[in-house]
Amino acid sequence: MDWEAYAREAEAAFGAAATLDELEAANVRFLGRKSELKLALREVRDRETGMRLNAVRERVEEDAAAAASRVDDLRLAKILAEEQVDVTLPARLLGDVQPRPRGHLHPTTLIRRDVEDAFIGLGYEIRDDREVETVEYNFDKLAFPEWHPARSPRSTYFLDPNTVLRTETSPSQILAMEERKPPIYMVSIGRAYRRDTIDATHYPIFHQFEGLAVDRHITLADLKGTLLYIMRALYGEDRRVRFRTHYFPFTEPSLEPDVSCGVCGGEGCATCKYSGWLEMGGSGMVDPQVLMNVGLDPDEWGGFAFGLGLERAAQLRYDIQTIRAFWENDLRFLRQF
Ligand code: DAH
Repeated sequence: MDWEAYAREAEAAFGAAATLDELEAANVRFLGRKSELKLALREVRDRETGMRLNAVRERVEEDAAAAASRVDDLRLAKILAEEQVDVTLPARLLGDVQPRPRGHLHPTTLIRRDVEDAFIGLGYEIRDDREVETVEYNFDKLAFPEWHPARSPRSTYFLDPNTVLRTETSPSQILAMEERKPPIYMVSIGRAYRRDTIDATHYPIFHQFEGLAVDRHITLADLKGTLLYIMRALYGEDRRVRFRTHYFPFTEPSLEPDVSCGVCGGEGCATCKYSGWLEMGGSGMVDPQVLMNVGLDPDEWGGFAFGLGLERAAQLRYDIQTIRAFWENDLRFLRQF
């Protein structure tokens, strides 16, 4: 038996083994119980042959051990390569769907926050009052006369004869003045409800922002300056404000503020119906009767108030043709903001 050839063959076989199976096959063949080497070792009778065969066995075992450690390294390297996690890849959600798009704010919320920011900058307090209101606070204390058409169930949602869905945010004026003594500078923002027929500027539910300032020596110029400041904060520094006289039960005088049209710059266009001006809502000097209704002396205190439509403001801001868009939750509309 040429044991030198056997050892070299074993060395080549272990050296070539790249997998656990090949390693195992080489082990069986050269070191197994039925390998030529082991069978020969069992037959050994003399010391010299024993030492020679043991030297061969040691040599082959060393090759086997080296191969085992190399194959193990290969196995680990393969696992590392195949099971590597790339932490920079975007997460995959259950079912392998695309990651969800990030949500964003509704245009009504965007404009609401802009209004809040502008008034907070002026030192106003922001209120958010109840939407279910008593007839007393929605109408009586605001000095609505008995005959006023807004008191009719045809224009207002009544829950019972004494309770309505508020038709405006103006009840916040009363709530604010009853809560504490002037000076008061507050803005109340929230939903109001009216039995209106739906068109481009009317919807049975809408938002208003209601402002009230009560202090000593308040004049109409303060109202105009405040509205001018707010309109410029919302729409840009080149805006102008004008007043038209009007009637509201709780203000005297009552005025409707207009802001100059931003589409045509006041020249006249389809958006402003060729007038150069856009209607914003109502305003005026707080009626002395309203001050007396909350126990304030009209000779000491005076105030101005205004109530403007939030959707209207957003329509102007984003050039939105119909108020319906704010309530229909059509994603094709909402995704644009
Ligand atoms: N509440 C009125 C409306 O809904 C708007 C309004 C007018 C509010 C004059 C005011 C005001 O505070 O002073 O049309």
